[in-house]
Amino acid sequence: MRKRMAAGNWKMNKTATEARALIEELKPLVANTDVDVVFCVPFISIIPAVQAVAGTGISIGAQNMYFEENGAYTGEIAPNMLTDAGVKHVIIGHSERRQYFGETDEDVNKKVLKAYEHGITPIICCGESLVQREQGITIDWIRQQVKIAFQEVTPQLAKLAVIAYEPIWAIGTGKVATTEQAEEVCRKIRECIEEIYDVSVAEEIRILYGGSVSGANAAELFSMPDIDGGLVGGASLKADFAKIVNS
Ligand code: G3P
Repeated sequence: MRKRMAAGNWKMNKTATEARALIEELKPLVANTDVDVVFCVPFISIIPAVQAVAGTGISIGAQNMYFEENGAYTGEIAPNMLTDAGVKHVIIGHSERRQYFGETDEDVNKKVLKAYEHGITPIICCGESLVQREQGITIDWIRQQVKIAFQEVTPQLAKLAVIAYEPIWAIGTGKVATTEQAEEVCRKIRECIEEIYDVSVAEEIRILYGGSVSGANAAELFSMPDIDGGLVGGASLKADFAKIVNS
């Protein structure tokens, strides 16, 4: 039985002071859950966030990291900086990183391998654009993203990964995928993992849906057999996130 996960992707929102306040507001609301709760906060809020969740079951994640250990990479953050700060999860390959910062499938793969080297659980994002959906190439596109992301990842490590299916057309638009659309792609992702590895890896790996998840639609999405929770943007910045966690 896969443990469910509700991960908030705060994106570029909240100062460190505001982050602390939001965590204090959300903490009691998500205290009684058997779901893995992760807040992926901006880099500068990681340390105060880790302090704020101490003693709770909540984990703090990052939204990105670099695939080198250290050196002359102005503006980047190394994996050991994240682990030293108490980070347990890192979002890798979010569509916004791919779209605005030119991140490629190969970069995603390097970051995934590096995250594992440091014991950080990667939350690996994939998703199609509206044009790709209309062209009928969604599944081929996602399979390619997944296959490259997992290159050279051993089955033992692959089991620990979290994959987030986020259709780009559903992100921040209020246009949530139907439960059938979300389930279909998540099932295909699981089949792809089975092809790369085997059924045991496919059954253990967690697959989240992301894209306009809210307190109003989470329960239905999360009731689908291949959707193990959500990666939540806008709604993770409000008390609505507690409703999602408790769905
Ligand atoms: O990573 C979460 C995400 O991109 C979805 O954002 O605001 O549509 O929930 P949102």
